[in-house]
Amino acid sequence: MKPFFITTAIDYTNAPPHIGHAYEKILADVLARYHRLRGREVFFLTGVDQHGQKVQQSAEREGIAPQEFADRISESFLSLWKTLGISYDAWAATTAPLHTESVRAILSNLKERDWLYKATYSGHYSIRQEQFLTDKERGPDGEFGPEWGEVVLLDEENWYFRLSKCSEWLAAFLEAHPEFVSPGFRHIELSNAASKITGDLCISRPKSRLSWGIEFPFDPNFVTYVWFDALINYISFAGYGGSSDQRGEFKSRWPCDQHVIGKDILIPAHGVYWPCMLHAMGFSDNEMPRLLVHGFWSLKGEKVSKSTGNVVDPAALAETYGPTALRYYLMRDAVMGQDADFSEERLLLRHNTELGNGLGNLVNRTLSMTRRYREGSPKPVTLTADLVAHLESDTSSVKTFITQMDAAQIHSGIETMVDLVNRANALVDSSAPWKLAKDPEQPDRLDAVLATLILSARTAATLLQPVAPAAAAEILRQISLQPLSLHGEVLIGDLPEEYVCGEPSPVFPRLEKSGVVDSPA
Ligand code: ME8
Ligand code: MG
Repeated sequence: MKPFFITTAIDYTNAPPHIGHAYEKILADVLARYHRLRGREVFFLTGVDQHGQKVQQSAEREGIAPQEFADRISESFLSLWKTLGISYDAWAATTAPLHTESVRAILSNLKERDWLYKATYSGHYSIRQEQFLTDKERGPDGEFGPEWGEVVLLDEENWYFRLSKCSEWLAAFLEAHPEFVSPGFRHIELSNAASKITGDLCISRPKSRLSWGIEFPFDPNFVTYVWFDALINYISFAGYGGSSDQRGEFKSRWPCDQHVIGKDILIPAHGVYWPCMLHAMGFSDNEMPRLLVHGFWSLKGEKVSKSTGNVVDPAALAETYGPTALRYYLMRDAVMGQDADFSEERLLLRHNTELGNGLGNLVNRTLSMTRRYREGSPKPVTLTADLVAHLESDTSSVKTFITQMDAAQIHSGIETMVDLVNRANALVDSSAPWKLAKDPEQPDRLDAVLATLILSARTAATLLQPVAPAAAAEILRQISLQPLSLHGEVLIGDLPEEYVCGEPSPVFPRLEKSGVVDSPA
């Protein structure tokens, strides 16, 4: 069976990771873990975008080789993904020979099939920003502002991809396949933008102005434009354009089920260039990937930016509060597709209330009482109607969770888990096992309530697994149960024969604010 194929954008290696990078990687990781939990094989590809002008310039500033610079920054991403428990199956670093060979093979093939041509472009060029300027860059006075430095008229020869040849195909494809991009409102935005795109795409840079890129196989004076190189990672690292047995693997993996990307790189890169590139390479409409577009994180309502000092360092947050709290908060507070504003207070609040007072307290009370009143083993008894109804509500919560997670609505899936925990804690309060324990008339009721609570705690830990795998595993260890199976039909069942619960110990110790995030006053 085809694996569930999920990717993220590959992160630029001109600067260390920020909160947006962490969010996107966790989001994809949660979906990957969810699909594994459902019994599917998953191929989760992520990595780093190592070429391009920004990397070359940053390396020059430090007086080191671009590869050395890119490798060092790549290390900081790798180390963060380890801390945050990102369970990727393959790592895409765009300087890897597997990838550069694939890009070169694709360029040669496109050239042979007349998708590429060489032409001279004349225009205004900013030497400081190293880019061509268009009328959009002119100020209200019609001049190019001082931010561009010296602006000269330049003639430059480059390679172009016949993007304009795809415009009719793209319009028809988008119209026929609204599922290409989600959330749905992005589809309208993309269709509008796609209809306005004219002209071809410049896909080379002369080495005289940028050398840090993949050299053209048929024209060594040019390197590949970084976006053309980067987008190909999604197929090269899945085996496209490699040796023949890798191509077999590629066929069994493609198309990608979810390209997880931020809203800034939908138009034009992923929504226009990428499907057109695939179309030109000969991929059919049924072989197009699907895009899942998330929103942006800000801090105090402002863009996170190194230059203004408005930064949230995910490594520092994970170090101070632990990966569980950070993963939970980012997944809980951002509505899929919408923007969110980072707040350390909310991170603590979510962790301390929903995980600590909610799930943690449920597990703690349930296990303590089961050990105190029943030496860890509730006796198997027939459940009364109210407890049967309680477990039926849990079953329907699991079904709701599955629907929500299939639709990548992670924040809703978490809410479903929280509701389930609240119901179980309400059952503790209403059934008052401490009173039942003193009532010689009600021994069976106590056994039944404790067994029900243990089963609810197992279900909650199962639903928490994709978001907080380590905490969920620890809860299941304390409960002494395997997770509820989410393969196929949902069957909560009974406690196993000879069941004995483990010893409780706090899984979500209360966190206090320590002021990790800097931001301008
Ligand atoms: O765009 N909040 O790399 P990148 C949420 N190399 N997500 C954010 C964010 C924020 N504040 N800031 C950035 C690139 N992102 C290219 C991608 S893919 C073939 C090449 C997201 O390091 C952004 O939308 O600038 C993107 O999906 C990812 O982080 C990497 O951004
Ligand atoms: Mg960016």
